[in-house]
Amino acid sequence: MLRRVSRREEGPPPAAGRGAAKQASTFGVALLTAYESLVISGDIRRHQGKTIFISGAAGGVGHFAAQIAKLHGLEVIGSAAKAASLDLLRQLHVDHIVDYSRQDVVREIREGFGPW
Ligand SMILES: NC(=O)c1ccc[n+]([C@@H]2O[C@H](COP(=O)([O-])OP(=O)(O)OC[C@H]3O[C@@H](n4cnc5c(N)ncnc54)[C@H](OP(=O)(O)O)[C@@H]3O)[C@@H](O)[C@H]2O)c1
Repeated sequence: MLRRVSRREEGPPPAAGRGAAKQASTFGVALLTAYESLVISGDIRRHQGKTIFISGAAGGVGHFAAQIAKLHGLEVIGSAAKAASLDLLRQLHVDHIVDYSRQDVVREIREGFGPW
């Protein structure tokens, strides 16, 4: 059952809350960087249906870039290595995930998406 809690009972915000706020404060520039690169400079709207490779696709900029590319109808190949990063790419429904610590990224892309 819900009940009102006074500020005194609540105590300080949990540490996870403070961490989340710090993390969130980095999102703006990272999102704008991805947006500027893909939408403004890259004019991604003209590339619907094509395939894009995003290195570091689970990183601060990369995870926004992957989502922007998918929103614009591109097929996304994303690379990452850490387990949490690979997990994030699966959660973001990145189409093709390359683990750069185990796979040869260039060969994977050439063989999967060539003719080059
Ligand atoms: N964040 C911003 O606001 C911002 C703004 C402007 C420019 N930039 C530039 O954008 C780039 C990425 O920044 P970020 O903030 O997104 O960094 P980040 O959060 O550290 O992400 C970088 C990603 O690159 C991957 N990575 C690490 N070493 C790699 C390697 N040797 N080969 C391939 N992938 C590797 C990592 O994947 P794993 O974790 O799976 O290893 C990581 O997720 C940097 O050059 C940065 O200077 C960032």
